[in-house]
Amino acid sequence: MAATFRSSSLLVVAALMVLSINLAEGDTVEYQFDVETMNVTRLCSSKSIVAVNGQFPGPTVLAREGDLVVVRVVNKAQYNMSIHWHGVRQLRSGWADGPAYITQCPIQPGQSYVYKFTISGQQGTLWWHAHISWLRATVYGPIVILPKLGVPYPFPAPFKEVPLMFGEWWKADTEAVISQALQTGGGPNVSDAFTINGLPGPLYNCSAKDTFKLKVKPGKMYMLRIINSALNDELFFSIAGHLLTVVDVDAVYVKPVTVETLLITPGQTTNVLLTTKPSYPGANYYMLASPYSTAASGTFDNTTVAGILEYEHDEYPGSSASFNKNLPLFKPTMPQINDTSFVSNFTAKLRSLANEDYPADVPREVDRRFFFTVGLGTHPCAGANGTCQGPNGSRFAAAVNNVSFVLPTTALLQSHFTGMSNGVYESNFPAMPSSPFNYTGTPPNNTNVSNGTKLVVLSYGESVELVMQGTSILGAESHPFHLHGFNFFVVGQGFGNFDPMSDPAKYNLVDPVERNTVGVPAAGWVALRFRADNPGVWFMHCHLEVHVSWGLKMAWLVQDGSLSNQKLLPPPSDLPKC
Ligand code: C2O
Repeated sequence: MAATFRSSSLLVVAALMVLSINLAEGDTVEYQFDVETMNVTRLCSSKSIVAVNGQFPGPTVLAREGDLVVVRVVNKAQYNMSIHWHGVRQLRSGWADGPAYITQCPIQPGQSYVYKFTISGQQGTLWWHAHISWLRATVYGPIVILPKLGVPYPFPAPFKEVPLMFGEWWKADTEAVISQALQTGGGPNVSDAFTINGLPGPLYNCSAKDTFKLKVKPGKMYMLRIINSALNDELFFSIAGHLLTVVDVDAVYVKPVTVETLLITPGQTTNVLLTTKPSYPGANYYMLASPYSTAASGTFDNTTVAGILEYEHDEYPGSSASFNKNLPLFKPTMPQINDTSFVSNFTAKLRSLANEDYPADVPREVDRRFFFTVGLGTHPCAGANGTCQGPNGSRFAAAVNNVSFVLPTTALLQSHFTGMSNGVYESNFPAMPSSPFNYTGTPPNNTNVSNGTKLVVLSYGESVELVMQGTSILGAESHPFHLHGFNFFVVGQGFGNFDPMSDPAKYNLVDPVERNTVGVPAAGWVALRFRADNPGVWFMHCHLEVHVSWGLKMAWLVQDGSLSNQKLLPPPSDLPKC
């Protein structure tokens, strides 16, 4: 009797604890996103862009870990729309992930959709962007995830936090740029400028007034929440006279790494600490972002965006005299555009914290192994829908294991959930290339790829090892691959062809960096591990939009587990229809 009483009272205590934790953590943050067109002038040229709430870049979604985020997206523009919450794990809430024709049909003009998801186990910076065609060119904004209330950063608290979004600016309408390229089969026009927080800065003609200025006080620590939202370019970033300490990538803490220059691919995010000079330095400092590219084919935007780090004079704090334009202006030295060894040295420095508070739960055993080639290719001209201005009279394409992914006309997740996948997708995505070749050597004569809407099916909870091998077909390029719905551990990377006999012995299974977007090295490979613990259909693609358009994408289908908390939740009632 006494024992029964005791255990039931313990149960009551346990229930109350759960309740109070829920009350402390489960805040709901709500936003309304009105997607509308607006006129913007940059580089002395005006155009109409699609943007959210009349802001470019768009509004910040601010949440704490554990919060429920609710965003009502109202499409008042003339394009189909969908918004992706890049890097948010979306545990069991795949309906809110956002990629058009993967987890939802687009939100049609005049329609709306409410995205609802909980942020769990992530802290740092992520971002949101349109996930249909090239509309993310201007439809993007930060997601700032603070730690749970009362939980400190694992580094000294910064004096101030500042989002820094890198973007890419076209004078032309980007929807016209990509539709023209898909018509001609050739490469699309490149951007006219890069931007920091929407501003190209003083190194471009007619742009000095559109310069991002970071105004700082001496002797303080600032945290920059950096996001690369550029469509097609990986970027180097450096601030003259100052070091940057990387403390978080893709909303996961890392062991602090101090560098002069960092590299960030489209899709990646990082928090860096910037300590200002101890006293007023009597100088201003350029902050520059310039592209990293090894692309052999076609032209690229080889320009540089500059922002300015300005110090407030201690003697006139807050007055207009405190920021002086006429001081010497220092410029950092940027790496060469094709400095691949800089890139691999930098990425090799990133490590998980892997401590008691922030363990690295790296899968040690592997249930399923995959080897994917990633790179460019061609479609033959015969029977093409358009002209053939690609390589040697063909049309540009791109493929994973020689499959160039074709988006269906209905959403994959819906067809899976309703059991109506016939004619929508096939479950036979190849686990390895059907005919191996020297991936990074002289490319094969036949560069044609096939088309398909093929998925890999995984059972709930399987641990996956994926080696992505870059190819040299039409030029060896770095491909920043992004996986939806998961973080993965980057257990290995190297140049040349992956060697299944010797390379796995060199894997880091102790403190590999955990992230959602990784650069597959130019003429090299990267090895990832993740656990398929999130049921749903999850897109994986190169985050260079031009390569996405050419088919450098595929999807994973993770089945429900047997327990009730291992199942995909039913779709919300306002889920858009195709
Ligand atoms: Cu940031 Cu599927 O994208």
